[in-house]
Amino acid sequence: MYYPHDFHRVKGELYCERVPVARIAEAVGTPVYIYSYKTLVDHFRKLQRAFRVMHPLICFSVKANGNLAILRLLVREGAGLDIVSGGELYKALLAGCSPSKVVFASVGKGAGEIREALRARIFCFNVESETELEAIDRIARAMRTVARVALRLNPDVEARTHHYIRTGVAESKFGIDQRAARLILQRHEAFPGVRMAGIHIHVGSQITEARPFVEGIRRAAAVIEDGRRAGAPLEWLNLGGGLGIIYKDERPQTPRQFAAAVLPTLCRLQVRLILEPGRFIVGNAGILVTEVLYLKRARGRRFAVVDAGMNDLIRPALYGAYHEVIPTGSAQGASNGQLRYDVVGPICESADVLARRRRLGRIRPGQFLAVLGAGAYGSTMASNYNGRLRPAEVLVRGTRWALIRRRETRRDLIRHDVIPHSLLK
Ligand code: LLP
Repeated sequence: MYYPHDFHRVKGELYCERVPVARIAEAVGTPVYIYSYKTLVDHFRKLQRAFRVMHPLICFSVKANGNLAILRLLVREGAGLDIVSGGELYKALLAGCSPSKVVFASVGKGAGEIREALRARIFCFNVESETELEAIDRIARAMRTVARVALRLNPDVEARTHHYIRTGVAESKFGIDQRAARLILQRHEAFPGVRMAGIHIHVGSQITEARPFVEGIRRAAAVIEDGRRAGAPLEWLNLGGGLGIIYKDERPQTPRQFAAAVLPTLCRLQVRLILEPGRFIVGNAGILVTEVLYLKRARGRRFAVVDAGMNDLIRPALYGAYHEVIPTGSAQGASNGQLRYDVVGPICESADVLARRRRLGRIRPGQFLAVLGAGAYGSTMASNYNGRLRPAEVLVRGTRWALIRRRETRRDLIRHDVIPHSLLK
């Protein structure tokens, strides 16, 4: 297996590291996200090791998982953080990340967010348009400071992935096209509030091969060389995130294969390297555990109705994403174990299907199922739709485990609602 993780069976029981998953589900209730400390750290170290010769700054992408405990453990391993909003900046600083390791991307940074990030002295803004560059320049000058920026280049490379998470093609809203980037770099002195310190690319997400990265780097290299000739102090290349993982039968490149494919060009360019992995670090380090509520049949289809829905994990509904679903107890080989079920949530939407036509072994109400590969873009994309409370989260380390996010309460559902008595009289 390319990316081992620490969810495995012991005598038929699913464990996270050395704790039975069902024991946590019983103690905390369901749905619950459970993460493995060791898997998180292993993935981070693997990437670090693969690129060791370049001493890269690895900024974990907070959008993939923003839990403070997870951010803190990665920061303690030496990670920086890749943020996309003032909210994520707030979390990054609370997690103890040095501002000098924070990079800030987003096509729509507000003036307040830019000011806040400058005040915090973050490492770099990944700039997505010329108007944004002008705004950062203006704000930085007003604050009598200089903002370090990397121009986000739209590398215009096709990457084979879901079209919702394809970002590197020319017609996407992300980045600056190559011609415009070159023109900006030629005029770099026109922006005294800004230091053009690098180029940023992100070719897409869940990419399993090296080719789009290599192609993207080739295009970035041409822009860097051009910019340097024009005197721009381009020192950094940020390769973005996007490394794919195994959800079903993908055969993703390993970090070492990835490094081997891109290091020659990077070394030749003499740049310092930033990486922004999200999914690779946390994707298979987390599972979502849910309880089977009911079994039902309709027109020959069998449904397992579970207590987690698209509000808890939206990836299957939004992207048609595949997540493996397995019982936490041993259920294999039973008499009706060959039956296939659609695993559906309680939400009033036909799209609320976590998995289709899966063999689950002999299942019964009250039993737990684990949805695998749910660590990235699971809890961060959860919502209160249908008046549901966002799930609890647990971190396991060896034989110990701890709650890292309490399940929401009813009060959380109404915390920000206001009944304006003056209008409703
Ligand atoms: N850097 C930039 C500029 C990004 O836009 C992203 C992800 C990352 C880094 C991290 O990418 P990763 O290593 O995790 O692939 N919600 C979708 C994924 C959206 C990705 C958005 N950008 C999903 O659940 O698949």
